[in-house]
Amino acid sequence: MITQQTIQQILARIDIIDIVGSFVRLKKRGSNYLGLCPFHNEKTPSFTVSPSKEIYKCFGCGRSGNTIGFLMEHEKYSYVEALKWLAAKYNIEIEETSSNPELRLQQQLADSLFIINSFAQQYFSDAIFRYDEGQDIAAAYLKERGFRDEIIKKFQLGYCLDKRDAFATAALAAQYNAEYLQKAGLVVLRDGQLMDNYRGRIIFPVHNQTGKIIGFGARTIKKNDKSPKYINTPENEIYIKSRILYGLYFARRAVDYNDECLLVEGYTDVISMHQAGIENVVASGGTSLTQEQLRLIRKYTSNLTIIYDGDAAGVKAALRGLDMAVEEGLSVRLVLIPNGEDPDSFIQKSGVAAFRKFVLENKKDFILFQLDISAKEAGLDSKKKADVVNQVAETIAKINKAEDFTLQQDYIRKCAERLQIDEQGLHNLVNQFIKEKVQKEELRKTGAAESRDKNITEKQVDFSDEAFNVMYQDELQERALVRVLLNYGSKEFDGSQTVADYIFLENLDEETFKNEKIHELLLLYKQKYESEKKLTTADFTYLPDNEIVRLVINTTNHPYELSARWNDEDRARTINSKIWEYNYEDFKRQVFQAENAAEVIYSRTVDDNYRSEVEDVMIYLKLKKIKRLIVLNEEDLKNMNADQETIKHYQEVHIHLKALQKELTLRKRTVIYPF
Ligand code: CTP
Ligand code: MN
Repeated sequence: MITQQTIQQILARIDIIDIVGSFVRLKKRGSNYLGLCPFHNEKTPSFTVSPSKEIYKCFGCGRSGNTIGFLMEHEKYSYVEALKWLAAKYNIEIEETSSNPELRLQQQLADSLFIINSFAQQYFSDAIFRYDEGQDIAAAYLKERGFRDEIIKKFQLGYCLDKRDAFATAALAAQYNAEYLQKAGLVVLRDGQLMDNYRGRIIFPVHNQTGKIIGFGARTIKKNDKSPKYINTPENEIYIKSRILYGLYFARRAVDYNDECLLVEGYTDVISMHQAGIENVVASGGTSLTQEQLRLIRKYTSNLTIIYDGDAAGVKAALRGLDMAVEEGLSVRLVLIPNGEDPDSFIQKSGVAAFRKFVLENKKDFILFQLDISAKEAGLDSKKKADVVNQVAETIAKINKAEDFTLQQDYIRKCAERLQIDEQGLHNLVNQFIKEKVQKEELRKTGAAESRDKNITEKQVDFSDEAFNVMYQDELQERALVRVLLNYGSKEFDGSQTVADYIFLENLDEETFKNEKIHELLLLYKQKYESEKKLTTADFTYLPDNEIVRLVINTTNHPYELSARWNDEDRARTINSKIWEYNYEDFKRQVFQAENAAEVIYSRTVDDNYRSEVEDVMIYLKLKKIKRLIVLNEEDLKNMNADQETIKHYQEVHIHLKALQKELTLRKRTVIYPF
């Protein structure tokens, strides 16, 4: 771990204009700097950097963060990597605390494996050029496949001589440890002797996100070889299959820039596509995608396009896990290549222009594609058709991020159209799945057992499309809490206490929040508040967790943000949410006196109404809590073994809770019942 002292040293040196300015051309505009956003394609600049706040924010795509966050986002560094990069830039020596011995040992082992892999890569790459066998066999093979020298160099392809232990001998002579060589999968022990594992194979090094080699794929090039086509590195400290996407290191910039990641099956597909100028591509190695791989992609883009061999039996299996992708917030498209071709053979045969055209014309939305296949399979069988409808509703229900709301609506419309069923009906069905999911979650949170799920299904009858609104509301209200806390936390609330005091009076436990980051942020605030009392937003823009930083920046108002672009949308939102606050006479007077009516409304929101904003959001959260208690109480009421006395007691609790709910609901001006 990097010591706190070193981190402080680094933070003290950071000049955000200097750092961001080395990646983006910035122009001074008032007290801020403006440039073209590096995270999305734009023609007029909306990327703003504030030197005083030490943050950046793009008003086009909404990305924001501090200097470290910028490096993490733009260079895809981890937090530690970003710190190390800055330390190197500012010539700051990094001090690391000795973490626990076990971890240290593991780190050492990982480091050794990286060093060995790097040695092996160089050895294998050299072998192509240094030996006749390399030229006659490996270079000839690669040439025949159409791989040119630059691409062979870029991907650091190599060859392992077809000798028993040529590599092993060289590695041992260079003082590499025999045990680690085996762990790296480069050699195997046969009859007490070390033997090269990849004899006579073309070597494809596999890089991690920072370009270090974590392992190899070794392809046989012998005719009539009975052994497997590829031998891959065994799982070890650095080669963890579920987290690997081949080619990501070479693809990340292009993925970011195109806002799309192409996924193919094979190593050679990735390389061929690069050679043809398509660089936003990674390979899965033919297995179905893991959640970790999906999250990795999600770091760079939310658009995944899968290009697979349409004939392969594996396609269906590979696609099966893709509901997971939807849940991760990815929108997935699919291109199937017919006639047993893969992208490599397609490009070599027909050229890249034809390939691009094919992909463009055959890109199908994954959810709709799945729907078409199963609808075709179901045919006229009405039972099967019902299953299809259920299945698609369940998938659509998984699109659960508030920001994907319109996407969800869109799918409902399209799927209803394709299935020729009533749109409202599908809408209701999707809602049912959402409610089921939400309730399961609530139940899990309130600690009730899964086995009670049955009861829930029976309760679903009275459900309307409130679920959408409520889920969306939750997110908004939770953010509102962050906003009022950060903006007005140290302001007076009611004479005896501050806003923060008032908020923390309630036990806002983890279960209160859908967004766990918000809970984390509250805990941080509370902790800091106890010692410092007067906190500002700036106290929260330099946290290691970029997600929290983003939350802080995006939910609070910055003065520069207002002047830079207090757009119509903001204005409309402000008016919509606050208009019922106004007494007409009062309002008229203020508007006449002010130069700009909108400013009257806005300033009033910020300055006069913060108490009611605080109250409002707290009432919402309290209502949520009461609802949870009501559910628990209902569970108790169903307990058959309870005696008369106890049941009476439970009923009293119920009445009390309902009364509280009613009172709070009346006090809340926006009437929303959380369930
Ligand atoms: N694969 C593997 N082990 C095998 C076969 C395949 O690990 N025995 C993985 C490799 O990552 C390979 C991918 O699955 O790249 C796709 O397999 P395939 O299409 O057979 O290989 P290609 O890489 O396309 O090889 P080539 O074009 O040379 O046939
Ligand atoms: Mn191939």
